[in-house]
Amino acid sequence: MAKKLHDTPNLDELEKGPWPSFVTGIKRLAKNNDMAVDLLGQLETSYRTKKGYWKGGTVGVFGYGGGVIPRFTELKDENGEPVFKDAAEFHTLRIQPPAGMHYTTDILRKMCDVWEKHGSGLIAFHGQSGDIMFQGATTENVQKAFDELNEMGFDLGGAGPAVRTSMSCVGAARCEQSCFDEAKAHREVVNTFLDDMHRPSLPYKFKFKFSGCPNDCMNSIQRADMAVIGTWRDNMRTDEALARKWFAGHGMDELVNDVVARCPTKAFQLKQIKDVKKGEHISSVAVSDTHAVEIDNKDCVRCMHCINVMTGALATASTS
Ligand code: HEM
Ligand code: SF4
Ligand code: SF4
Repeated sequence: MAKKLHDTPNLDELEKGPWPSFVTGIKRLAKNNDMAVDLLGQLETSYRTKKGYWKGGTVGVFGYGGGVIPRFTELKDENGEPVFKDAAEFHTLRIQPPAGMHYTTDILRKMCDVWEKHGSGLIAFHGQSGDIMFQGATTENVQKAFDELNEMGFDLGGAGPAVRTSMSCVGAARCEQSCFDEAKAHREVVNTFLDDMHRPSLPYKFKFKFSGCPNDCMNSIQRADMAVIGTWRDNMRTDEALARKWFAGHGMDELVNDVVARCPTKAFQLKQIKDVKKGEHISSVAVSDTHAVEIDNKDCVRCMHCINVMTGALATASTS
């Protein structure tokens, strides 16, 4: 049983509405954890005064120069003592997830146990840096928590002026548009630059992001210093049964207005079957007994639009 909750009228507002509320989640943790009780206290103060009260500092574990984000409270009383003493130190451990972010429930339970023992119980799967964010530990407990997670086979991620853990899209694990093995590429890059992640020596942070195709679900162009985006080399693949099914369901207007007209390079054409071009750069597929779509792959800029609309009927090529 933890200490009594502070009054949090502002935070309570965030529990209303249709979506899961982080406030409800932290209140649940606060039933057994004084740190979570005082976290809510400091957060409520911030909502009232419209000021943030966390400052950084230097906290780490032996052998590593990064991977921990230190946070100390600046909310002090007239004697210089923290107003919310159980959340006065609220550091975050960044831990690298397994490749592809696939876990067993057993591992997830063990992670929760470690963090309930040494931290606030609050874990974010996953932060935008690509790590599991174990949020809220005292300076003393950071090393203890890390040692237990390390025993389970996990390692620190990146924080500070260093290479970050990075992220890859779900890609080959579940997505038919994937043009390369994103999780493998991601893991190989992380392993190659591990020293630059754990012993920061760069003037600033450095982020990779991996997207399996030009849809760029990772927003890697906006979010990364180095964006890795899959594309394909040879001709787009087609499937006649699925193309006919798509056309039967969507019709000529949609094919013309939403696909043909929106191809940025006019590589995508609607033709009568008898007029379809032949050639090594041409992909084509019948959508009915009279009409076919024809793609001149030399002119295709791999924007993904037609493939997104007619997924299955059209697919990225086999050589990517
Ligand atoms: C002008 C200064 C800053 C810029 C332009 C900036 C930019 C960014 C960007 C673009 C991201 C997302 C990266 C991604 O998607 O992978 C990010 C994440 C983050 N930034 Fe900053 N940042 C700045 C300053 C700071 C400062 C001063 C702090 C802390 C005191 C900070 C803490 C963080 C944290 C903790 C994350 C990760 C959030 C998460 O994992 O969910 N940033 N920042
Ligand atoms: S970027 Fe492409 S491959 Fe990756 S999840 Fe998005 S659509 Fe799929
Ligand atoms: S992927 Fe190629 S053919 Fe399809 S709409 Fe984009 S440019 Fe046109």
